[in-house]
Amino acid sequence: MKFLIRGGKKLEGEIKLQGAKNAATKLMVASLLTEEPCRLDNFPRIGDTDITAEFLKHIGSKVVRNGSTVTIETTTVKNSRVTLEQSRRNRIPILALGPLLARVGEAEVPFLGGDKIGARPVNLHIKALEALGAEIEIEEGKCYRARAKHGLRGAEIRFDFPSVGATENAILAAVLAKGKTVLRNAALEPEIMSVVKMLQKMGAIIELGANRDFYIEGVPRLRGARHKVLPDRNEAVSFACLAIATGGRILVKDAIQDHLITFLNTVRRLGAEYEISPEGIAFWRPSVARGSAGTSNSLRPLEVETAIHPGFMTDWQQPLAVLLTQVEGTSTIHETIYDNRFGYTDDLKRMGAKIEVGDSCPPSAPCRFSEKNFPHVATIHGSTPLRGAKMVVRDLRAGIVNVIAALVANGDSEIDGVEEIDRGYERIDERLRNLGAHIERV
Ligand code: EPU
Repeated sequence: MKFLIRGGKKLEGEIKLQGAKNAATKLMVASLLTEEPCRLDNFPRIGDTDITAEFLKHIGSKVVRNGSTVTIETTTVKNSRVTLEQSRRNRIPILALGPLLARVGEAEVPFLGGDKIGARPVNLHIKALEALGAEIEIEEGKCYRARAKHGLRGAEIRFDFPSVGATENAILAAVLAKGKTVLRNAALEPEIMSVVKMLQKMGAIIELGANRDFYIEGVPRLRGARHKVLPDRNEAVSFACLAIATGGRILVKDAIQDHLITFLNTVRRLGAEYEISPEGIAFWRPSVARGSAGTSNSLRPLEVETAIHPGFMTDWQQPLAVLLTQVEGTSTIHETIYDNRFGYTDDLKRMGAKIEVGDSCPPSAPCRFSEKNFPHVATIHGSTPLRGAKMVVRDLRAGIVNVIAALVANGDSEIDGVEEIDRGYERIDERLRNLGAHIERV
């Protein structure tokens, strides 16, 4: 499937955020921890929740969707092996190891799929599960096979790096383990806290301590719960960048200030505007004196470094990069989470952007990728007009870059492989048309 886009138009109006992809999929997996039904509201209809529903059904869950609600009930686990076909397509199935070990004492998931944005090992997941008493066999290139003959037991686990997935995996495994678990140097992203809140409703005992510590007291069983998926902060940033880059004004309905504090500071430094209201957050580019409204001169270049929460999120750098091509001066983005997440800049360059990707950290901020020749620093020289191009979507966040860049560009663009964008953005073409975008799906 393709998007045909005619760019160069200011986008204006209101757009409502969908439920967060990176919370909805984990909440679905959390439902495996009980035989009672769990209901999720504000549930996004996207490719990744479809893939997750498919593998939950394979495990034995009944998944019933009704509008923006889904109910998942797993009275019995019929199959603790997730097949290659189901797992290759995203990275969620590894999170089922904990719940399956808790429910039936064994689990198997294949090596993971997901976006190609650098090495994405799962050593921290495996180490945490092993600490909790799982025996894990790795069939290289094929699957992870886990068993917990005597059940899982609480343990103290220190993560070398606050990995989102490994933290989630450890929490999901520990809530039903015997005894107490301490997770140190854990990740604290809002999507993780959403899973914690749902687990608390289900009967889990989880405390958050200082220094990124979680304290979990295992309970013998969990019950069903009803939980609302939080709004997608990655969508919020995409729409904010779109508003500012096209010189329009967009009210991002349901955007939550708490989840976007670092991004909002970035918008302020950039010289763009936002207004927080009970409905959400509106973003726009201020007019420049002497009446040349919407020119790029009102914006200032930036130095941005991605980081774990509450820092500037790695999933935000791509839409920001498009925006920075429209800003006078030289900006840099230092990516410190993934070692190879600038592939999309080749597409922007073909559209007229001036971007160099290098491997040297800024001298004042060496990161764990320094001296390793990873292409993790982008230097963007603006402002450059963009022109329409033919593109093929590389991965989910790169795909939204293609769309935003095509909407900013003069002329026509053709974007192939939009199924990848559909994995994370619900009916994106239809919703962008409501903002005045010329975008067609063929
Ligand atoms: N890492 C390890 N070992 C591990 C796990 C992670 O070395 O066992 C490294 C990774 O290689 C990476 C870094 O730690 O360099 C961060 O990985 P993390 O585990 O935190 O990320 P994730 O759980 O795989 C989630 C989101 C990503 C988002 C990151 C960072 C989901 C399904 N994915 O990935 O979202 O970028 O956290 O916030 O929640 C996306 O939505 O497009 C996406 C890629």
